[in-house]
Amino acid sequence: MATLTYKDRSFQGQESETILDCLIRNGEKIPHSCKSGICQSCVMKTNDPVDLVSQKGLKPTKKEAGLFYTCQQSLNKDFEVFDSHESGPPIDGEIISQQRVSSSVVILKIQLDSPLEYKAGQFVNVFRTDQLCRSYSLASVSNNQIIELHVRKVPEGSMSNWLYDSNLLGQKITLSGPVGECYLTQDMENDDLLLIGVGTGLAPLYGIVHEAIANGFKGKITLFHGGLRLESLYLVEELKNLEQTHSQFNYFPVYLLGESKEGFLQGDLVELLKKHEFDLKNTTVMVCGDPDMVKKLKQTVFLKGVSSKKIFSDAFVSNKKV
Ligand SMILES: Cc1cc2nc3c(=O)[nH]c(=O)nc-3n(C[C@H](O)[C@H](O)[C@H](O)COP(=O)(O)OP(=O)(O)OC[C@H]3O[C@@H](n4cnc5c(N)ncnc54)[C@H](O)[C@@H]3O)c2cc1C
Ligand code: FES
Repeated sequence: MATLTYKDRSFQGQESETILDCLIRNGEKIPHSCKSGICQSCVMKTNDPVDLVSQKGLKPTKKEAGLFYTCQQSLNKDFEVFDSHESGPPIDGEIISQQRVSSSVVILKIQLDSPLEYKAGQFVNVFRTDQLCRSYSLASVSNNQIIELHVRKVPEGSMSNWLYDSNLLGQKITLSGPVGECYLTQDMENDDLLLIGVGTGLAPLYGIVHEAIANGFKGKITLFHGGLRLESLYLVEELKNLEQTHSQFNYFPVYLLGESKEGFLQGDLVELLKKHEFDLKNTTVMVCGDPDMVKKLKQTVFLKGVSSKKIFSDAFVSNKKV
């Protein structure tokens, strides 16, 4: 049986256990959220060789420094691991606005105590005082010291129900990050943007739309926002107004179930996307939200002919869905 050493303590591993699970089983409070190698909240450091999968997507400098995802590394031999604050030192902030924009979505604004360097579209790991940690995408434009998060309340969800239901004005909160590769870069400057968000997958794209417009982005910006029902959509009026005032921006709110309604598209987002015509060579595509939908939508644009190098995504993976 393999031995795991952490802070001068040694633990015996169990069969098929990951390093993260072994640490948690032994009462160590290790931050974690997605358990899928995405959020980086569980990253630690080791001098021992690790499996390729437990460093997938990490920058080369981080790999060389021995950083790895503890949720992805099985305890298949002896390891010694150390703490690392690689997703950035924790930053404190205070919730200054909590706006319930539908029966399941709340928009939070958090005033940060110190500046956070981030790009619109990245995400942060939010910590409650009991160390419960979840990832949320930044809906605000880059580097704004008041960050905006859109949170969908999921059935029995520990963090999302707390953020939606409790009165949190004035609540102190800690976050780390930023993380994620879904943001505007200079090499997209001459492209059009096709942005597709499902549910609160709108959040990162909302920040990106505002950032692109504010920075004088020249190409067309097309935003599809999909929801199960009409009521699942939010910020509709605001986005329609933005469309009125910026000719380069086209907004399509889409819902699957219910009666048709003027100003909205009704139907399957994947099927609508199959029919949507755009410049396949010069369009950057970003897809965010529900993991199954993200997979289908990415596949659809890829099969239409968009190069995988021009497709970016954030799948909102939940730790209990894997
Ligand atoms: C990179 C990234 C970015 C994210 N950005 C956002 C964001 O901007 N806004 C946002 O609302 N969420 C976002 N998420 C999801 C978020 O991190 C949490 O997973 C989500 O809020 C649920 O956490 P919870 O503690 O409420 O639920 P948990 O206590 O973790 O789960 C409780 C139950 O709800 C189920 N569940 C969890 N998530 C879902 C879901 N999406 N749909 C259906 N059932 C579910 C679980 O299977 C479980 O049974 C993101 C996730 C990732 C990885
Ligand atoms: S990367 Fe390990 S918990 Fe998210």
